[in-house]
Amino acid sequence: MKNQSQPRLFYRIAPVPAGGAIIVTFLLLFTIYPRSTSTYHSLFLSLSSNETAARHLFALTRRPHVAGSDANSVAAAYVLNTLSSASIPSHITSYNVLLSYPIHRSLSLSTNSSAPAIPFDLIQEIYPDDPYAAVAADILPTFHAYAHSGTAAGLVVYANYGRVEDFAALKESAVNVSGNVVIARYGEIYRGDIVRNAQLAGAIAAIVYSDAKDYGGGIGGKWFPNDRWMPPSGVQVGSTYRGLGDPTTPGWASVGDCERIGIEEVVATGLMPGIPSLPLSSRDGEAILRTIRGKVAADDWQGGEGAPVYRLGPGPGFVHLTYLVSIEVN
Ligand SMILES: *[C@@H]1O[C@H](CO)[C@@H](O)[C@H](O)[C@H]1NC(C)=O
Ligand SMILES: *[C@@H]1O[C@H](CO)[C@@H](O)[C@H](O)[C@H]1NC(C)=O
Ligand SMILES: *[C@@H]1O[C@H](CO)[C@@H](O)[C@H](O)[C@H]1NC(C)=O
Repeated sequence: MKNQSQPRLFYRIAPVPAGGAIIVTFLLLFTIYPRSTSTYHSLFLSLSSNETAARHLFALTRRPHVAGSDANSVAAAYVLNTLSSASIPSHITSYNVLLSYPIHRSLSLSTNSSAPAIPFDLIQEIYPDDPYAAVAADILPTFHAYAHSGTAAGLVVYANYGRVEDFAALKESAVNVSGNVVIARYGEIYRGDIVRNAQLAGAIAAIVYSDAKDYGGGIGGKWFPNDRWMPPSGVQVGSTYRGLGDPTTPGWASVGDCERIGIEEVVATGLMPGIPSLPLSSRDGEAILRTIRGKVAADDWQGGEGAPVYRLGPGPGFVHLTYLVSIEVN
């Protein structure tokens, strides 16, 4: 019997990589300005009603506003304006931080290494009632921020949630991860750690998908905004950097001509991945899983109702993956 768990909450589809060129400073001021805490205490309570929370969330999520974009400075101005109009002393400070954007992505799948390859379009489709249909063109292509540039071709291995214990279980089952491409699902650990664990196990690339069991994936035909689940082509994007802040300035501020360490150095420490990776929708992830044979995965590695039987591989399903990044200080 398959493990039935409640699907998790819908994640925002618009890409929001970590880091940001503009930061609105106000928390620090709470301790600097000679105002009594009770003023801010009551101010915070007065600002955080359901109605205002809903209004601010709506305003901030109406458009994609990836770090470093014009839309993001509009969002920063909104926050500044909101705080200022509540009489909270606030200002905007600019930082020059390392940011990454996708230049090229491709992924194709064949049922074995000599069968014809079928490319995935890697597009999040617009659907009826899609509240973001009008701004779809502003949404960056699906990618993992700070992912490694590169091309990989290999047999696919299924690694459940990509945790340390999942790779240990693969090793125990004598499944060869080394030199192959890992497919793992979102939902238990940080995506940067999934890619890292795949790299440490010897994988040449990692694919991280949202399983319909965890995120809905269109089960029952209902998804955001009519239900809280992701649509079948919805992709969770985000960072794969495993540290905090700007990777090239660990421990100091990214201002002016400050000293910076090289990207290769960050990769060497393991904080940025050394293998390429891509995020995938539930629909595309399932298409790959259907091509994997070998041992049947354990019950708690299986999908939800209607999913195919998940197996461990490697292969014969075979993927070609390419990811090209633009990564620089902005
Ligand atoms: C805010 O909304 C939540 C969820 O609908 C509800 O449980 C809560 O009672 C509301 N709070 C107020 C103060 O209206
Ligand atoms: C590979 O796939 C092709 C097309 O589906 C099939 O004709 C061929 O027999 C397969 N080869 C192997 C070794 O399974
Ligand atoms: C593991 O798979 C890789 C790539 O398919 C292959 O080169 C390697 O020989 C395999 N290792 C073992 C122990 O089977």
